[in-house]
Amino acid sequence: MELARRVAEAADLVTVALDELLPRADGPESRLTEAMRYAALGPGKRLRTYFAMETGRIFDVDEGYVLRSACALECIHAYSLVHDDLPCMDDDDVRRGRPTVHKAYDEMTAVLAGDALQTAAFEILAHPDTHPDGNVRAELVTRLALASGARGMAGGQMIDMLGVRDDIGGVARMQRLKTGALIACAFELPLVLARAQDGERHALMAFAHDLGLAYQIVDDLLDAEGEAKTLGKAARKDAAKGKANFVTLLGVEAARSRLDLLKTQTKSHLDPFGGRADFLRESVDFVLERRQ
Ligand code: IPE
Ligand code: IPE
Ligand code: MG
Ligand code: MG
Ligand code: MG
Repeated sequence: MELARRVAEAADLVTVALDELLPRADGPESRLTEAMRYAALGPGKRLRTYFAMETGRIFDVDEGYVLRSACALECIHAYSLVHDDLPCMDDDDVRRGRPTVHKAYDEMTAVLAGDALQTAAFEILAHPDTHPDGNVRAELVTRLALASGARGMAGGQMIDMLGVRDDIGGVARMQRLKTGALIACAFELPLVLARAQDGERHALMAFAHDLGLAYQIVDDLLDAEGEAKTLGKAARKDAAKGKANFVTLLGVEAARSRLDLLKTQTKSHLDPFGGRADFLRESVDFVLERRQ
């Protein structure tokens, strides 16, 4: 229960902070700023924020710096979902229990809202309130750009869209890029703020990579077995759309076995942190057992 409370607390904090940081406008461009706010302030689980805040706590990083970094990450994540739902991509009508942005507004507004959320993320990171040292801010910007771009989320989305159905290794690579990179960034940004040592950084990044893979396998299992009502988004679309993922390629049972293996492996990366990482350790079960 304690963990659920901490996740909810992180979600509240980031939503309030985003509400402050996202632009408002009076002129005709207010349609754009409203759509950005609709996408970013909706009821997401905010697990990336939770991971960032927990990591910040392990290293005693100023919570305000971590929260601004988490806002930037949530902007990129929200943009990725707005574009992912477009008719030219997954063509989805419901997200976070509400009409997708192109349904609530229209396609051109959704494209622009995604674009502007992406630049808002970097505007937030580049602001001196995110960290007084310009070198640290530049490093945050670089890390988020790499995780979002052609060698990260966008590259993974390209592979997903092409529907390349090769081996399971290819699927693992796609998942690592499209979902894993931004999840890893939730750990990476606070590690930059903490100026953490290489040993601790490597251990935590290994944890992040396994967690990201598990996160997407759960998403794929929920698509195959979940209910739209609980998920807040359509179910049973991946197989119908010919998507290549662990579930469509291996089947539900084999995907579950992979997840079981990953569970122990993921947690073991936290051994060097001992009790300091208890909440992150617990969050693995939370992620694997999630129903939405
Ligand atoms: C959905 O992400 C897309 C994936 C990368 C799996 P989340 O499951 O984190 O979505 P929200 O933010 O809670 O809506
Ligand atoms: C999307 O993966 C990952 C992104 C980068 C947005 P999915 O297409 O499986 O995510 P959902 O199921 O629509 O949330
Ligand atoms: Mg998709
Ligand atoms: Mg999708
Ligand atoms: Mg999915």
